[in-house]
Amino acid sequence: MTADLFDSSSDVRPSRETMAEGAVLLRAFARPIERDLIAALRDIAAQAPFRHMVTPGGHQMSVAMTNCGNAGWVTDRSGYRYDAADPESGKPWPAMPSAFRALAGQAAAQGGFEGFAPDACLINRYQAGARMSLHQDKDERDFENPIVSVSLGLPAIFLFGGLKRADKPRRYRLEHGDVVVWGGPSRLFFHGVAPLGDGEHNLLGRQRINLTFRKAH
Ligand code: SIN
Ligand code: FE2
Repeated sequence: MTADLFDSSSDVRPSRETMAEGAVLLRAFARPIERDLIAALRDIAAQAPFRHMVTPGGHQMSVAMTNCGNAGWVTDRSGYRYDAADPESGKPWPAMPSAFRALAGQAAAQGGFEGFAPDACLINRYQAGARMSLHQDKDERDFENPIVSVSLGLPAIFLFGGLKRADKPRRYRLEHGDVVVWGGPSRLFFHGVAPLGDGEHNLLGRQRINLTFRKAH
């Protein structure tokens, strides 16, 4: 019976860890609104289904993606860009839910970036084996605004390096509800995700979902 006292939504306390100058890991920050986030995600994926995009080099990504907000990040043979419309449907991306916008703004503020108003939310879906190789987020108009990255579902190893591709990345295990904010001196740090291990998450099943908020324009 005592186990019931510690239900899964109350056993993780928010905490804050500095990863680099301008970069913080906010553990469990999104947990209080996990159900709203997941409900909104289902709506978005019904309108703009997850798909495996192709890199300019012609490789299909192992991560499946969709977007919400005024600007959606896309890749195809012609390059990386932000597009107001979903290339699959020709329709605008689904609107960014207010719960997403508020979460991103509050997390950015915790990281020292007040007034963050994202216009883009890239939604990444990882299934077992999916990974994201080291890269910089640099398709945005300027780098004044931070990146806010929300992890949901299965845990993953997040690789966080430095300004040079060769900088050895540090490894952080990101769990459901964890939020990473990086900006200022670390805005262009290389980062990636190690191949996802299989598992079963009580709310999201056999997947990890990542929301990446950015100010694209
Ligand atoms: C990304 O860099 O776009 C994704 C990072 C993550 O999935 O945690
Ligand atoms: Fe990224």
